[in-house]
Amino acid sequence: MSQATLFDTVGGQATFDEVVHRFYLRVREDDILGPMYPADDWEGAEARLRMFLTQYWGGPTDYSEQRGHPRLRMRHAHFHIDSKAAQRWLELMDAAIDDVDVEKLGEAQRAAMREHMQRVAYMLINAAG
Ligand code: HEM
Repeated sequence: MSQATLFDTVGGQATFDEVVHRFYLRVREDDILGPMYPADDWEGAEARLRMFLTQYWGGPTDYSEQRGHPRLRMRHAHFHIDSKAAQRWLELMDAAIDDVDVEKLGEAQRAAMREHMQRVAYMLINAAG
């Protein structure tokens, strides 16, 4: 499966909107992750992750146009991300992906998305614990 087509294969923007929205509903309530995010800009945070994932998987490139190079390690450097926080992020994302209709998101696509997110999450760990 090529990265350039996963976006279309899984149902395009609507699917990405749904996954990221469901992820942030959980993040808001989460004891570890919730307090890290800007309480006055949940919509902005949701938009940034949505644009990033959309672009990564071959959809429109609004992320680069608005944010430039992702530089994710640098952009996460001022958050305390230990392995517990990374694990929690992945759990909430798994749950969000599980919410989405299997018709839209087949097993191979889910596995590819999970693998990418795991790789990034582990790369972002910047604190012991
Ligand atoms: C490992 C656990 C993680 C934690 C605790 C975490 C936390 C955060 C926080 C607090 C923000 C700031 C919210 C905002 O105002 O935009 C953020 C931004 C962001 N995160 Fe994460 N994140 C994690 C993993 C990931 C992963 C795995 C990805 C991608 C697959 C990701 C992609 C992004 C993106 C694209 C932004 C916006 C960057 C920008 O343009 O400013 N994060 N993250």
